[in-house]
Amino acid sequence: MKKGKKLYEGKAKIIYASSDKNLVIQYFKDDATAFNNQKKSTIEGKGVLNNRISEHILSNLSQIGIKNHLVKRLNMREQLIKFVEIIPIEFVVRNVATGSLTKRLGIEDGTVLKEPLIEYCLKDDELGDPLIAEEHIYAFEWASKKEIEKVKKMILRINDFMIGMFRGVGIKLIDFKLEFGRVKLNGKSEVILADEISPDTCRLWDSITEKKLDKDRFRKDLGDLIPAYTEVAKRLGILHEQSNVTAVNVTKLSSVKKKSK
Ligand code: TMP
Ligand code: ASP
Repeated sequence: MKKGKKLYEGKAKIIYASSDKNLVIQYFKDDATAFNNQKKSTIEGKGVLNNRISEHILSNLSQIGIKNHLVKRLNMREQLIKFVEIIPIEFVVRNVATGSLTKRLGIEDGTVLKEPLIEYCLKDDELGDPLIAEEHIYAFEWASKKEIEKVKKMILRINDFMIGMFRGVGIKLIDFKLEFGRVKLNGKSEVILADEISPDTCRLWDSITEKKLDKDRFRKDLGDLIPAYTEVAKRLGILHEQSNVTAVNVTKLSSVKKKSK
């Protein structure tokens, strides 16, 4: 698949055109940001790990019938994905209260929610991705009622599946963020899961120690992020025991190759 011109650059990923107009290439960067870009860093190997972890989760979701944008992983940093029109909403799913929810509402950190809570944020960096009500989505026609009903059903299935998948490897799925997009299938618009699912977009706590295995390590300066993401990848069976620093080594190798060209 030939890589075309850069179409869009976000905080953690770049989208390139491909030789097929319905498909694009998603490149995972090593850049990490938090608090709407106020805190920034480059963490070598993060993109490689997120590419692998997201591929694993999205292909598993595909197997249980959750349609998503992933076509295939191309290499250590890139995936071939379907070109979608992103719905400008970040769907935050919470099983345990922490993060912005506890700050906003004074709920005790770690409170287990009786049912998964879905929150909506407008995807707008300049406004700091503000929390919105479902009614705002319809008032400003960011998505239709039919689309949101479908998205909500998909979210609950995704959450059930991911809770089980992570529980099986000793990890609690605390919360996560999803994005959805529209594709044309046989002339009809359909909503599918898009973006990525990785420790950048989830909160993952070790089931026993509650050690944070996600981007909170960076947000809250909890120490190295790469060993935590590597641990998640290993537990999911993506990386093997001996490959402790595989992602970083591969990154180094690929940058050496590029430089010597
Ligand atoms: P929050 O508690 O900061 O609102 O985050 C809730 C979840 O959403 C958490 O798993 C991190 C994820 N998230 C993103 O993936 N991107 C974002 O821009 C934000 C604010 C949160
Ligand atoms: N992704 C957001 C940012 O870049 C926030 C976050 O993940 O905490 O600032």
